[in-house]
Amino acid sequence: MRLDVVTIFPEYLDPLNVSLVGKARASGRLDVQVHDLREWTYDRHNTVDDTPYGGGPGMVMKTGPWGDALDSALADGYERGFGRPALIVPTPSGRPFTQELAVELSERPWLIFAPARYEGIDRRVVDEYATRMPVYEVSIGDYVLAGGEAAVLVVTEAVARLLPGVLGNAESHRDDSFAPGAMANLLEGPVYTKPPLWRGRDIPDVLLSGHHGKIARWRRDQALTRTSAHRPDLIERCAPAAFDKKDREMLSILGWAPDPEGAAHGRFWRRPPAVEE
Ligand SMILES: C[S@@+](CC[C@H](N)C(=O)[O-])C[C@H]1O[C@@H](n2cnc3c(N)ncnc32)[C@H](O)[C@@H]1O
Repeated sequence: MRLDVVTIFPEYLDPLNVSLVGKARASGRLDVQVHDLREWTYDRHNTVDDTPYGGGPGMVMKTGPWGDALDSALADGYERGFGRPALIVPTPSGRPFTQELAVELSERPWLIFAPARYEGIDRRVVDEYATRMPVYEVSIGDYVLAGGEAAVLVVTEAVARLLPGVLGNAESHRDDSFAPGAMANLLEGPVYTKPPLWRGRDIPDVLLSGHHGKIARWRRDQALTRTSAHRPDLIERCAPAAFDKKDREMLSILGWAPDPEGAAHGRFWRRPPAVEE
């Protein structure tokens, strides 16, 4: 997979040389090209921004440098035969970045990232490239960062660990929180390793039992408990078929009941509010 990142802070992307992504680069599974947007400026001050049309605070990134930088990255990637590119534009007004989207992006041969600063990039840049390739405007959460580079690091790491051969154990992401399939979009429960006793704290007996069925059940109950506590919205949206009899018993202990009225709106479970004594 090829990744291009166009930014005014190339050094912000240095972590792409470290750990899992760094190893994927070193092994040739990832070809990462970081470009300094200011190389495509032609004035003395290397200007990349200007005042917004319509007034208001802040500055807007100019079309010219972005268009020339993206064209240059595209020309290089096409010349080197990297399939069909997709443009990733981090923005708080984008669609939420999820594990499902990470999986989708990991199946693409070539991603080009356009992290902005200031108030964002002149809209015409996105509109222009959307006529040539898929454009994903993505938000990594409901908060506003000063720039999109941190979002690029987040998306890159989530995508890179899904690439074949990047994780030491190919099974590692199967049970992740949000992994499609086995855990039905539940959060992963707690994990433990040696030593068996630390500061008086031991390991749940079941994990030492060697009984695979009981361990799987315990992990599932932990996932249900954690999801119920931290992301009840995920439980609400789980189709009834996602849960077996034991799951439903656990959900009942956690206070959940099927919601026949909500089902029409995609909410299959509800938890009656606790009655105050
Ligand atoms: C100061 S923000 C611009 C915020 C813009 N005024 C708005 O409210 O949509 C500058 C840049 O940081 C990046 N950014 C900020 N928050 C982000 C988020 N939650 N997800 C992804 N990118 C974000 C985007 O690249 C954005 O263009």
